[in-house]
Amino acid sequence: MAAVAGEPEVIRDKAAMRAWARRRRAEGKTVALVPTMGFLHDGHLSLVSAAAAASATGPVAVVVSIYVNPSQFAPTEDLATYPSDLAGDLRKLAATGAVAAVFCPPDLYVRAGAGGSGGAVSCLEEASCGDGHETWIRVERLEKGLCGSRRPVFFRGVATVVAKLFNIVEPDIAVFGKKDYQQWRVICRMVRDLDFAIDIIGSEIVREADGLAMSSRNVHLSHEEREKIVEQENLVALERIDRPAAICVAAWFGKVRLIDNMEIQTHHPDGGASI
Ligand code: PAF
Repeated sequence: MAAVAGEPEVIRDKAAMRAWARRRRAEGKTVALVPTMGFLHDGHLSLVSAAAAASATGPVAVVVSIYVNPSQFAPTEDLATYPSDLAGDLRKLAATGAVAAVFCPPDLYVRAGAGGSGGAVSCLEEASCGDGHETWIRVERLEKGLCGSRRPVFFRGVATVVAKLFNIVEPDIAVFGKKDYQQWRVICRMVRDLDFAIDIIGSEIVREADGLAMSSRNVHLSHEEREKIVEQENLVALERIDRPAAICVAAWFGKVRLIDNMEIQTHHPDGGASI
């Protein structure tokens, strides 16, 4: 269906999405993908702006995907209560005037059982998937520390769904928020290791007025925190900040898990700072 001028085209079907993106490339446009799970806020809209400005050499067709990926949630996590507001999301994206298409597929996985429907896709159902989805991408070391130590299936799910989105949209560029610092590094490593011909842009954190990093889960917010400091590229724990470092914080506020991080580029004058 043709979109109203200025409004993004809403695409639900994988093959239609791929065909749409190929047409844009044939027209000479750079295709830039912003993967999201919806319930969009200004942080997401800043990713859209980064995507729209991503090519210095010509027009960019920005695609925003909205898909709450079940495989990155463990059964104990908040998949069922993850906030969503597709109509609101579409209004916000249309208002930017920068989005050409929104890809919101009903499902991206082949499910086990009759007709391929039913059945959650998460780590613990893997063994019982039968003829369902069973191919996973693991960025083996980077996925284990920090958030991965508490969420053993999370990065496997993220890497797998992002690879699926890359294969469907075939973007030239993809934009991820550096708020999800480990996720961004995992994606960069996957793209490098698997030779995806996609430039990954890491977009800076957008904060609420009180300094809280914007997150769709902030709506559930009602306290406690853990923190580590790690070396930036390989996420190795540091005793002293003697090279580019990142402070990565994960905090539980009641039942809501929030994350934040800060890159530290400068070195202490004596060559390092104790942590
Ligand atoms: O950051 C997110 O919203 C999700 O983890 C992503 C990258 C869209 C994959 O589901």
